[in-house]
Amino acid sequence: MRRTISFALGFWFVTGFLPTAVASDQSVDDDHPLLVAALANRVAAAACSLGESERDHALLPATRADALPDGYAPPDLVPIASAGVPQRGSQQLRAIVIPDVLDMTQAAQSDGVPLFVSSGYRSYAVQVSTYRYWVGLRGLEAADRVSARPGHSQHQLGIAIDFNFGSLGGFTTSPAGLWLWDHAQEYGFVFPYTLASIARTGYIFEPWHVRWVSRELSMLMWQEEYQYSETLAADDYVALARSVLLEGSASATTACERVLSAT
Ligand code: DAL
Ligand code: ZN
Repeated sequence: MRRTISFALGFWFVTGFLPTAVASDQSVDDDHPLLVAALANRVAAAACSLGESERDHALLPATRADALPDGYAPPDLVPIASAGVPQRGSQQLRAIVIPDVLDMTQAAQSDGVPLFVSSGYRSYAVQVSTYRYWVGLRGLEAADRVSARPGHSQHQLGIAIDFNFGSLGGFTTSPAGLWLWDHAQEYGFVFPYTLASIARTGYIFEPWHVRWVSRELSMLMWQEEYQYSETLAADDYVALARSVLLEGSASATTACERVLSAT
């Protein structure tokens, strides 16, 4: 599974979106270059709303194939209790996520659906325990389908959330599961582990697990029906977005100015 967006494609964003031949051994999806190219400008524009610094935080890849940088820790963790976000246990998230998660849980509550954070930020060390727990319970092969190995979990980014999690199964058709599936994108969240993307991500369907990407990007992805795509999973969009801010990294702002003036 190759997710890293091609540098050539990124160059294409920065150099005026000319559909010139793209040759790279690092393409996000060599089988679907036209699909990716057609989305590039709009994903780029949405990604630029995140700001340059988020390429190294909210847009970091954390997949089975892609580990986070050694020792990565988010810059702005806060206890979510202090913001009034419903939780179980004592959860932390990045401050950048708090307004959206608060809006979302309040909207769910208004619709009569209790939504609470059951797992937010997990450090590398906590993920060591989490992964070991699943290996002990299910064995190595099954554990690898439900738990990220240490260094590969989106929870280490401080922007991923498990909602109302009690046990595997049951959540999908629960009021909370149905509500979240319908509304997450309105608040900046997407589902990295869908039914359609099981073969691509390597993980089971996790309808309780969302990753924050900003409202601009989540709405775009939702309009593109990423959640039903076997070819472009949520993390493919994240990788595509990241490439926009990475390319010409000396001048990511310039790259975004160019993207925005072209849309
Ligand atoms: N359950 C997801 C894959 C994680 O452990 O981050
Ligand atoms: Zn999760």
